[in-house]
Amino acid sequence: MEKRQKIYEGKAKIVYSTDDPGKVIQYFKDDATAFNALKRGTILGKGVVNNKMSAVLFERLAKAGVPTHYLGTLSEREMLCRRLDIVKIEVIPRNIVAGSLAKRTGLEEGVAVKPPIVELFYKSDPLGDPMITDEHVRMLKLATPKELVWIKRMALRINALLRPLLKRKGLILVDFKLEFGRAGGKLYLGDEISPDTCRLWDADTLEKLDKDRFRRDLGRVEEAYQEVYRRLVGSGS
Ligand code: TMP
Repeated sequence: MEKRQKIYEGKAKIVYSTDDPGKVIQYFKDDATAFNALKRGTILGKGVVNNKMSAVLFERLAKAGVPTHYLGTLSEREMLCRRLDIVKIEVIPRNIVAGSLAKRTGLEEGVAVKPPIVELFYKSDPLGDPMITDEHVRMLKLATPKELVWIKRMALRINALLRPLLKRKGLILVDFKLEFGRAGGKLYLGDEISPDTCRLWDADTLEKLDKDRFRRDLGRVEEAYQEVYRRLVGSGS
């Protein structure tokens, strides 16, 4: 697979074209941002952790029948993916109150969300990714009503698959962000599933083992990413 030009550079990843128009390469960087890039930093080794963890989880989801963009791992930081036309919605399943949900509802961090819910955010950097409703999705033509039903159902299914898998590794899946995209008239799960895009708490101590350590200056950021890697990838999962 030949790597061609850079198509897009995001905050944490670079996407390259390949000699196959239907395939791209995602390169995972160590760069970290928070609060719509107001805060910037580096988390050493993060790209490797996010690439490998995403690969492990995409493979597990694919085995369970979830269509994903993952096609293979090319190197420590490079993943071969199906090229998607990304749906501009950040899809957030939540099992436990944390982050912006705590701020918006006044509920305390740590309260169980039963049954789990799915929130939608408009993927727009200039607007700072505001929360949107199904009606906004329809109004903005971000997805058809049929696509949105499928996306929300799939997000809950992915949550139901990942929660027990992570629990077996001593990790509580608090909430996480998914992105979907279209290719050849079908929808696929895209992007990544990593400590950048998930809240993961240690099942015994409730210690935060994700990007909140960077967002909130909690220290031991690299150590948290390495611990998640050790549990999910290092052990052969
Ligand atoms: P939130 O509580 O800030 O809305 O975040 C919900 C989840 O989404 C959390 O697991 C972190 C993830 N997330 C991203 O992946 N990218 C983002 O830009 C933000 C704000 C959150």
